[in-house]
Amino acid sequence: MALRILAAQPSQQLLVLPWQLPLEQWPAESQVAMARGISRHVVRFVRVDHQIYAAKETREEWAWREYGLLRNLRRIGLPTVEPVGVVTGRQNAAGEPLEPCLLTRHLAHSLPYRALFSQRLQPDTVRRVIDALVVLLVRLHVDGFWWGDCSLSNTLFRRSAGEFAAYLVDAETGELHESLTDGQRDHDLDLVTTNVFGELLDLQAGGLLSEDFDAHEMAFRVASRYESLWNALTGTEEFTTNEMWRLEQRMNSLHELGFDVEELDIVTDIDGASVRIRPAVVEAGHHTRRLQGLTGLDVEEHQARRLLADLDAYTAAADLQDEDPTLVAHRWLTEVYEPLWAMVPVELRGQVERAELFHEVLEHRWYLSERAGEEVDLFDAARQYIDEMLPTRSQALSGVVPESFESDLEPALGTDDDWPSS
Ligand SMILES: Nc1ncnc2c1ncn2[C@@H]1O[C@H](COP(=O)(O)OP(=O)(O)OP(=O)(O)O)[C@@H](O)[C@H]1O
Ligand SMILES: [Mg+2]
Repeated sequence: MALRILAAQPSQQLLVLPWQLPLEQWPAESQVAMARGISRHVVRFVRVDHQIYAAKETREEWAWREYGLLRNLRRIGLPTVEPVGVVTGRQNAAGEPLEPCLLTRHLAHSLPYRALFSQRLQPDTVRRVIDALVVLLVRLHVDGFWWGDCSLSNTLFRRSAGEFAAYLVDAETGELHESLTDGQRDHDLDLVTTNVFGELLDLQAGGLLSEDFDAHEMAFRVASRYESLWNALTGTEEFTTNEMWRLEQRMNSLHELGFDVEELDIVTDIDGASVRIRPAVVEAGHHTRRLQGLTGLDVEEHQARRLLADLDAYTAAADLQDEDPTLVAHRWLTEVYEPLWAMVPVELRGQVERAELFHEVLEHRWYLSERAGEEVDLFDAARQYIDEMLPTRSQALSGVVPESFESDLEPALGTDDDWPSS
């Protein structure tokens, strides 16, 4: 049987990987050690053309199915890992068949939940992780994806200005429909509640989460957060024509939640006295898109919100409110955002992603200003943060395997310093 690699971005280096060995036996030099979650299948990370890929050994029909689903989900703009290819026709030296591999691009600066919790999170942070998972599930449901196995372990988390952004990593059980019935959504919600409860108990049993933490309450929070976000995004609202401001209010509240309404269904009754509105198409990423339109930067939603707030402050301080917003944004980019990143020594750049560093420096400035009782200059705060805090920032925050995490990987620690910034 011939080795067959179907890949979205074919590369010669893909061909020379030791496909004739089961992933479990791959030599250290073929691997990159990155944090990864618990899994039924064997997963290994490899570096190909300066990119890091995850290879997962799985049954052929599952590999194709997951590859196709991930492609479709990405096409409609949902946050999932990016499928790269499927490797079939693998054989060992004795000519015996080996399981195919699904290849996905390693999600830069992401962490599986156990790595995240290896730092013993505050209850408030746990809540933020859970909230990010809920946002992900609602987004998937809005677009008709039934997950079938939504859990913390099938999700990857990226830091996003004090919050988290969740990405789907395991789509194996999922189904993409035109839209979901309430029954399908309830089923998924039951599954995620049970999964999260079990996962939190596991963390407690493993000493990664305080015994005092109420796992039960948190599992219930999933359902209540889900319902309120689902209703905010899709619920019908009725009011009289004298209350048309409620239309704008609804739009604004969706923007606050980070969503844009692409299509609004408006129905008025025969005599035109009452109006019924229902967002028909919503799209996540309100602040991300606004920032991208102004600056070209592509960052997570909460990061974008933070950066836009700084851009606003810059505009006000320089008295540029009447200038063209894109020109001001360009000035801010070249006078503030880029120079700040340029201060980071090259060897520390893999430690943190740009927008996240910016957020951390803003937080640091806030803290310094509080202490000083006056506003500290951004670049002074950045200098101190980069010199004193960044070098000791936990590697676990950047996705590189921390020493306390993962016992089954021996290769030298890989760093992500050659990744293109995301
Ligand atoms: N593209 C990727 N980027 C980062 N990490 C990844 C990627 N693909 C897989 N991983 C890591 O590998 C782990 C296991 O992957 P996955 O959940 O797809 O397999 P699995 O758990 O064996 O599947 P199943 O849930 O069916 O048992 C993930 O939790 C994640 O930590
Ligand atoms: Mg999984």
